[in-house]
Amino acid sequence: MSAEEDFSRSVVTEPHSGGLIAEAADMIGAAGSIVVSTGAGMSRESGVRTFRGEEGLWKEYRAEDLASIEGIRKDPALVWEWYRERLKACQELEPHAGYYALVSMQNGKGILPLITQNVDGLHQKAGVKDVIELHGNLRTASCIDSCGVSRVQMTGDLFEKLPPRCSCGSILRPDVVLFGEQLPEQALSRAFRLADSCDLMMVIGTSMVVYPASSLPLIALRRGVKVIEINPEETPLSSLDGVLSLRYTAGSVLPELVKAVYGV
Ligand code: APR
Repeated sequence: MSAEEDFSRSVVTEPHSGGLIAEAADMIGAAGSIVVSTGAGMSRESGVRTFRGEEGLWKEYRAEDLASIEGIRKDPALVWEWYRERLKACQELEPHAGYYALVSMQNGKGILPLITQNVDGLHQKAGVKDVIELHGNLRTASCIDSCGVSRVQMTGDLFEKLPPRCSCGSILRPDVVLFGEQLPEQALSRAFRLADSCDLMMVIGTSMVVYPASSLPLIALRRGVKVIEINPEETPLSSLDGVLSLRYTAGSVLPELVKAVYGV
């Protein structure tokens, strides 16, 4: 069993306290425009490792070596090995029940835009619509020297010879947001607009330590909008006024919430 698969089994899903679920379900049922924001914890029960915490990737690897332009230039083969493994894991893994609960919520409530820090594509794989990828994705790669040649698909043959090169000769870099880079302007401004206009925000599986994603629920709270947090661990968001923090895993509580709201 791979390390990723181990992670998906290490999560304990305790029985839920009905009161909090009912309260969250009432908030979802009453809301007109919900925005969902997810982090790496959303993918954990599908077997994708989180970045921080006991079993996080950044305990085993140095982020600056693997997720920065300097890291890619310094050792492109190592970085591409790492992304090849991550992409392979994401392609082989399946969305858990929590993703399908989000699809049901979108169908029930109309299209809820979903903002994610994740690059694994699992939301789209489950059929979640209108996904705003703040940190890019693992679907394409582009020239590290921005030569202007169009980006390429990150498919198997790209990895035959590492590091993959652009037709201009420079090495390619995955189209994820690397440390020190700006986030995609369109995605970010839309995320801020949604935080500024929703009447309920759900924050699922993020440690709330990376800006600007971590500022989105604060924008909503400042407007008097309630936030539902789903995370088995406490975060800086958990104890803020206006936050209903469900100390559960995404894969276990999202289906419960949908059942409580829609009876399905
Ligand atoms: N369900 C819900 N939340 C979970 C689960 C689960 N099954 N398992 C873990 N979590 C929570 C953890 O408690 C933690 O708070 O998910 C969170 C994951 O936090 P991080 O690993 O820091 O991931 P994230 O917040 O998405 O990181 C943000 O940092 O390194 C960068 O670009 C990377 O997008 C990433 C960003």
